[in-house]
Amino acid sequence: MQAEDIKPLISNAPFTVTPVGPTIGAEVSNINLAEPLDQATFDALYATLMEYKVIYFRDQKMTADQQVAFGKRFGELEVHPFRPDLPDIPEMVVLDNHKDNPVLSTDIWHADTTFREGPTRFSILRCMIKPEFGGDTLWADMVSAYECLSKPVQEMITGLEALHDFKNFSLLYADDDEGQQKLLKMRKLYPRPTHPVVRTHPDTGERVLYVNPQFTVRILGMSVKESDAILNLLYEQSKTPEYQFRLQWEPDTLCMWDNASVQHYASNDYWPHRRRMERVAVMGEKPYFDPDTKPVRDPKSVTRAHAYEGLH
Ligand SMILES: [Fe+2]
Repeated sequence: MQAEDIKPLISNAPFTVTPVGPTIGAEVSNINLAEPLDQATFDALYATLMEYKVIYFRDQKMTADQQVAFGKRFGELEVHPFRPDLPDIPEMVVLDNHKDNPVLSTDIWHADTTFREGPTRFSILRCMIKPEFGGDTLWADMVSAYECLSKPVQEMITGLEALHDFKNFSLLYADDDEGQQKLLKMRKLYPRPTHPVVRTHPDTGERVLYVNPQFTVRILGMSVKESDAILNLLYEQSKTPEYQFRLQWEPDTLCMWDNASVQHYASNDYWPHRRRMERVAVMGEKPYFDPDTKPVRDPKSVTRAHAYEGLH
């Protein structure tokens, strides 16, 4: 991909944007997502998402169908392979966790469905029932996560490929013959893909650290020991507070994020209280790495300035 193919970022938005972090997260207000978006508003919203990576909106009262319609503006919606929750609206994933339904593995850092050849691009999550306390979601800016690695480590990992797998979702299948047959079918439908360890962002051309502890198995071309050591080093990046944004949900808060530039983690601190969220997701293309792509902007990253070198 050439630099001129990459969409420019625009800033004259017909709504209010309030950044909440240095490189990630913005509140968007004075907009009603239940109504159809005109092209100018859509373009501005898309540019805002590219700029801040995670954007959220308070007080968005809408039906499930309206949430689906909003999602479809951004591309084809995904039917999640492991979660056909609402038969009438197959695109809607319901995350309803409570006393009798603890979370499966939303509390591990990940970008959505990297076990697919074309992983989820955008996720659009709305809070329906908020727990008494807790249940925040955290996101990590994986552009900063890459930019803040030292040059020698950047050079070592750039151009490498890693194997991904749906790992924990296999626990959804019983250990009996019927369960294992179903699991085998899913394994055939979703063979383990490889993705670049550092991907090129399809809109901004920025370099993005693209391995996650939820779905990445190992880096190709290395021993297990080497791969584990390097992956663990890279996983530490998403845990760095300076690269993160944390959202406290309220009912009717809607949040949208770009899985091509962030990872997320749902804080599992509210059980046995109930937390119900509804999500639609936009399908994405196969991640790629192009060493010649120049970013459309200087990749923004957090300068963790210290008084002396070598402190961390
Ligand atoms: Fe997720």
